[in-house]
Amino acid sequence: MKIGFFDSGIGGLTVLREAIRQYPHAQYYYYADTAHVPYGKRSETKIKELVSASVDFLVNLEVDMIVLACNTATSVAVRDLRKKIDIPIVGMEPAVKPATELRSVKKKRIVVAATPTTLSAAKLDTLITDLEAKDRIDLLSLQKLVVFAEQSKFDTNAVRNYLSRKLSFISSKKYGSIVLGCTHFIYYKKLIAELLPPAVTIIDGNAGTVSRMLDLLPQPIPTIKLEVHYYESGEEKTLDKMYTYFNWLENQKK
Ligand code: DGL
Repeated sequence: MKIGFFDSGIGGLTVLREAIRQYPHAQYYYYADTAHVPYGKRSETKIKELVSASVDFLVNLEVDMIVLACNTATSVAVRDLRKKIDIPIVGMEPAVKPATELRSVKKKRIVVAATPTTLSAAKLDTLITDLEAKDRIDLLSLQKLVVFAEQSKFDTNAVRNYLSRKLSFISSKKYGSIVLGCTHFIYYKKLIAELLPPAVTIIDGNAGTVSRMLDLLPQPIPTIKLEVHYYESGEEKTLDKMYTYFNWLENQKK
């Protein structure tokens, strides 16, 4: 079983790590489009073009499935990709549904944090409209976190200042949850939790994406030896960088 993972950069490693944890029996091919990250402020046309080229690369490696571990790429490109490619594609979208279903915070407002492209795309608007949640949701761009994450800036003063400023409006009286709708933001989960009132629940779509991936595995589920390959814009690299990011995620739990 060969599974391709795509993200504009290292954000999707947060999903890959969860996939390896739950299913350490595949060959994973991770593709970071580092030459063009961040995607979050690019035009939809440009993102479609970049995602399509990266996905073609993975298809040429003969992967059996692709996980778009990027909300931005999914929101603008997944429909076209599914028309073009005949292997399963798992997309990601901000986990607004679980947020609306949280019983503990039923009436409170929900912050959906993502890149500007994800926030303005029709896909998110349709999702929110279908959930009849329009009047409960506030959209928040945390685009700078993508840049910080790419620079391996995790818990620096600049990151703290940026996040405290951006999250300062979130009071527990008014807000019940925040959805992290960008895979790069997962590196900041612990810091975000520290800066928010404890009653505000942090929700992300990583576990949901991995369970969707597992659902799409053929039966009986293949169990080959784990192998991981890491590419940056078409060039295979060592796994050192990936492990640095995995280690930081491990840190988040302590
Ligand atoms: N990691 C991405 C996401 O989930 C995109 C970040 C970016 O390139 O701006 O949305």
